Amino acid sequence: KAGIKPELYRPLYHFTPKAHWMNDPNGMVYYKGTYHLFFQYYPDATVWGPMHWGHATSKDMVRWQEQPIALYPDSLGWIFSGSAVVDVNNTSGFGKNGQTPLVAIFTHHNSTLEKAKSDKFQYQSLAYSLDEGKTWTKYAGNPVLQNPGITDFRDPKVRWFEPQKKWIMTLATKDRITFYSSPNLKNWTRESDFGSNLGAHGGVWECPDLFPLTYNGRQAWVLLVSINPGGPNGGSATQYFVGDFDGKNFKPYSTKTKWMDYGTDNYAGVTFANTGNRTILMGWMSNWQYARDVPTVAWRSATTVPRELGLAEVNKELLLTSKPIKELDVLDGQGFSLKNLPVKGQYDLTAKTKNETGLFKLDLSTQNTNDFSIVLANDKGNELVVGYDKSANVFYIDRSRSGKTDFEKGFAGRHTAPRSAVATKISLTLLVDAASVELFADNGLSVMTDIFFPEKDMTRLSVKSAKGVTISSMNYTKITAGSKAG
Ligand code: FRU
Repeated sequence: KAGIKPELYRPLYHFTPKAHWMNDPNGMVYYKGTYHLFFQYYPDATVWGPMHWGHATSKDMVRWQEQPIALYPDSLGWIFSGSAVVDVNNTSGFGKNGQTPLVAIFTHHNSTLEKAKSDKFQYQSLAYSLDEGKTWTKYAGNPVLQNPGITDFRDPKVRWFEPQKKWIMTLATKDRITFYSSPNLKNWTRESDFGSNLGAHGGVWECPDLFPLTYNGRQAWVLLVSINPGGPNGGSATQYFVGDFDGKNFKPYSTKTKWMDYGTDNYAGVTFANTGNRTILMGWMSNWQYARDVPTVAWRSATTVPRELGLAEVNKELLLTSKPIKELDVLDGQGFSLKNLPVKGQYDLTAKTKNETGLFKLDLSTQNTNDFSIVLANDKGNELVVGYDKSANVFYIDRSRSGKTDFEKGFAGRHTAPRSAVATKISLTLLVDAASVELFADNGLSVMTDIFFPEKDMTRLSVKSAKGVTISSMNYTKITAGSKAG
């Protein structure tokens, strides 16, 4: 690795640990003005190992401060993924003298049992904090949910179900989801199973989430299920179901497989607890297929930008939408706007962008739906292409020639996302950081997240369209260390 700067590819507005390995976001919760992000963390190497919960805090979900490790492995096992809740009614009894406990519900992964070929090596445990997430105490009665003999039995996502005044745990159990309920987070009763014969099954089911969203005054429940492998563009990805949940059973409205994000790099995403009417998700911006091979040096992996989730109706079907949170506007820096710009062939924007690092936010809308592409490039011949292909009716990101790609044989490639919107114009937002691109098209109906590793900053930008497209409006914002991202 001689000659590689340790900070190469460090993003400006995505969370990365200062050093070492990170994977899934865990236990995300908003409490007393602070957003907490915990994450799967191995503090001894830049590859996966005995898992801890790392910790970071933020006032706006954009600027994060890394905190001391929250949970260390113990005699029951490594600390795998899970969630955290604000136990407002102190149902757990962990609060003393009227204190409200924060309770983390996570999987203990017992590698000794795993090596001994037991099938009961994953089980669920608790830890609580009485000082707003600074320090955590593991519950003496762990584990709280024993393994019935299922090799993959993990990633509890817990929420309060107000109509029946009980906690619901959504748990990934190999090839399905199992729902459990509890009055106090300590005693759990199995309610039902979902999904063994529905959805995508190209890999194991992991990191689920279940939450309500309102559309046109009506409530529907969304069930997220990450799977690895078996994603639509290879490796790991997150599918979702929309349906009803009655405290016992989840019933989907449709049996069609749907994906929250068609890019290759948004995995294990779940939502924050305690954010009121807003439902906000962050994912792990990598893929198990190559996460351990990516060419960063001091650390590995970042989170996605936080996205606000919603529902939209298309052809009588409710679909999930993801939009960048409004807090990201703190990134607004210098830029320019264009209106009614016909593009036929190539329109080079480089002279207008004057961007030395290549980090930007772009909002763009077109007057028609002819093919077009947005091309990021540098003078090493690297190119990252984001576009719309009319005949296939797909959005795509092509990172085949985006720089370093040979660290894993499947990394170079062109990824597609079907367009679900039916509108005759296209609008999109692109967020580009040092080593990632996030595409939100048609008000969050088609979403793609891809990472890439250029040999030099991608400081050139152009729009291309062979058949001709009219850009009705374009807003370009340069994002620099000197902008409000501070
Ligand atoms: C998903 C996952 C989880 C598990 C964790 C281990 O990426 O495999 O199922 O809890 O990572 O680090």
